[in-house]
Amino acid sequence: MADITTSAADRKEKEYFTDVPQTSPGFFLKGSHQYDWGLKNRLSKVFNPKDGRTVMLAFDHGYFQGPTTGLERVDQTILPLEPYADCLMLTRGIQRSIVPASTQKAIALRASGGTSMVSPMEEWEGEFEGKKVRFGRPGFEPLSNESTALSIEEAIRLNASILAVQVFIGSAYERQTLKNLTDLVDGASRYGIGVMGVVAVGRAMARNSQYFRLATRIMAELGANVVKCYYTEEGFESITSCCPVPIVIAGGKKLPELEALQMCYHAIQQGANGVDMGRNIFQSDAPISMMKAVRGVVHENLTPEQGFQMYQDLKADAAQA
Ligand code: R5P
Repeated sequence: MADITTSAADRKEKEYFTDVPQTSPGFFLKGSHQYDWGLKNRLSKVFNPKDGRTVMLAFDHGYFQGPTTGLERVDQTILPLEPYADCLMLTRGIQRSIVPASTQKAIALRASGGTSMVSPMEEWEGEFEGKKVRFGRPGFEPLSNESTALSIEEAIRLNASILAVQVFIGSAYERQTLKNLTDLVDGASRYGIGVMGVVAVGRAMARNSQYFRLATRIMAELGANVVKCYYTEEGFESITSCCPVPIVIAGGKKLPELEALQMCYHAIQQGANGVDMGRNIFQSDAPISMMKAVRGVVHENLTPEQGFQMYQDLKADAAQA
């Protein structure tokens, strides 16, 4: 019986060995030591070989929600951040139209899509607190009805280091989105390109460590070279410990800067190999200052308080300049 449905009383206590790092003999990156040269080289562009960590700047949100706040003009708001990122996570449309081909940054290319935030949703009528209301049908997640949205030839033309694919485990389209992942892994691995499985959390799914352990491990077992998920306050180190490949965290909705830095810090200290962050950077009052502070926390082990001080100082300097 699957762990997720087995009662605690019926199963052996879990052992995550969170204090014993997984080894990767001869290569700096978790779970990646037995790949071929090309894939190792591409992953070395995404993750800094000195510390095995990355600051990915995510600005692919437009692929399903159009001109997201802060991304209305990517040339104006994102290009100034490019020097401070290790890797740019974006769509092919923005890469070709806006990002200079002279960039030295690794490319994490969005490779799934096909739905939008206004995809028609099946609705049902019900009653809530005595009032008639309309709900989306439970278990029906139109956003999860994605396909692959990029050929491998196109990924090669765009010099992608890694492809990003959304996977909706527990949704109506779980099987289809897992097939998107495995199709991309099959295609990309022929050419030494990596695949990052992105845990997408539908409305019906709990954002807890039990869910993320399940989702990240399934994606790694099916061939994802990197997995992206959210940070959880409870049990995050068990997620990173039982996922055999690197985990990077998504930032999620905009938080006050200190809280966002705390989240980065705790994720890194609990085994994440980096962040793939968007709104908490480009929606900040001072995006470059925030980006530098996030780098400090990820690459220089600054505490959240030190990172926040850095953010405030840089923001003040920028205001005076
Ligand atoms: C969402 O699906 C996008 O793929 C983003 O790349 C991802 O959510 C990370 O961005 P944020 O830090 O804004 O959550």
